[in-house]
Amino acid sequence: MGKGRAGMPTIEELIARKRDGGGLSAEELDRLVLGFTAGEVPDYQMAAWLMAACIRGLDAEETVWLTDAMVRSGERVDLSALGRTVLDKHSTGGVGDTVTLVVAPLVAACGGTVAKVSGHGLGHTGGTLDKLESIPGFRTALSIGEFVRQADEVGVAVIAQSPEVDPADGAMYALRDVTATVPSIPLIVASIVSKKVAGGADAVLIDVKSGSGAFAKTGDEARALARQLTRVGAALGRCIRCVVSDMDEPLGAAVGNALEVAEAVATMRSATGRLAEVCVAIAGRMLAMGGGAPTAAAGEALAREALADGRALEAFRRWVRAQGGDEAVAEDPADVLPRARERRVTGAPRSGYLSRMDAEGVGRAAAALGAGRTTKDAAVDPGAGIVLHARVGEPVSRDDPLATLHAAGPALLDEGERRLLAAVGVTDDRPEPRALLTDV
Ligand code: URA
Ligand code: CA
Repeated sequence: MGKGRAGMPTIEELIARKRDGGGLSAEELDRLVLGFTAGEVPDYQMAAWLMAACIRGLDAEETVWLTDAMVRSGERVDLSALGRTVLDKHSTGGVGDTVTLVVAPLVAACGGTVAKVSGHGLGHTGGTLDKLESIPGFRTALSIGEFVRQADEVGVAVIAQSPEVDPADGAMYALRDVTATVPSIPLIVASIVSKKVAGGADAVLIDVKSGSGAFAKTGDEARALARQLTRVGAALGRCIRCVVSDMDEPLGAAVGNALEVAEAVATMRSATGRLAEVCVAIAGRMLAMGGGAPTAAAGEALAREALADGRALEAFRRWVRAQGGDEAVAEDPADVLPRARERRVTGAPRSGYLSRMDAEGVGRAAAALGAGRTTKDAAVDPGAGIVLHARVGEPVSRDDPLATLHAAGPALLDEGERRLLAAVGVTDDRPEPRALLTDV
């Protein structure tokens, strides 16, 4: 950018002010964000400002203003025609986090309406879109009109983030991802809340992950992030409620796109296990937010029933059919979903208690097997990934099956196995159990 107009600081001056610990006004943040989206502020200036913001932070007002500017960088999805409270569920990025695939139809089965704008995965965390797209025929590129109609008729719709909705976040996140500026609470808050506000849902349950596989490494960081998400959401007129869930080890047993879809179906069939528990807890809170249950506890009771009696699976089948996917996946996932060419069972390195199954490490192992992306536009191998056979705290004997790896060939299996073993710890003493989910 050239010189500022009379009395207006240049972009360079805005960068310098943030570098020195000062604040920007709403108007200045608008110029920065909207100028960047319009191509007037170049990448290098935005990247420099992001680094300054990452180090110096943003105050409470700046975070709201930044978020608001990001929302106004593009279109907003208008869901008001549905005439009811529309719910969304978001996770701050987990490993083996199959929750959305179960919770969305579960809430729909209990009479709620879920409309979610979702992204692809990057790095070691999986994206809901990649998981859904592993179902043959499943379309995520619905028009806004189709999205709204489907949410109305089926009770659940998930579409890909379009370049028209919150384009500032797409472009800023791409810069943050390669300039070491992702780990900043205000930047993460603005990124998530702007997408949620632009996505149109009235009430959003955010599952803030805490642990090695998450942005928030400690419970304190996760709770601070959760409080900011709720505060900024409220400032922009949205009801955001958060839970903090453990991501020191992967949530489910499956890590990888088709493998996670199969696990979601198995969870909707058996209605038991760690994943089912988290899904019931989250669905219950969403039903309470949407007015479908008087309290979270009452919502949990409804969700537990709908999971156990097959209505959640039925809603999943309707959802898959509505988006063009092969609904037989709800019957026999192994028959319908793509499979990797080769498998290998990895055994425990020694006897003892499994003390560590580092989520980030397992995510990176799955990515190395082909389940994740190394660059934004890379393709994923839908069948690749890991199925864990042991959980932290369980006793294992040397060479007991720890995990089954799925990949296209032996070189990938070697690399995946090396990474997986680096993520695993076995000790003589039984480790302390960790809480799975806490409210904020
Ligand atoms: N998830 C997002 O959408 N944005 C961030 O910045 C971090 C996690
Ligand atoms: Ca996710």
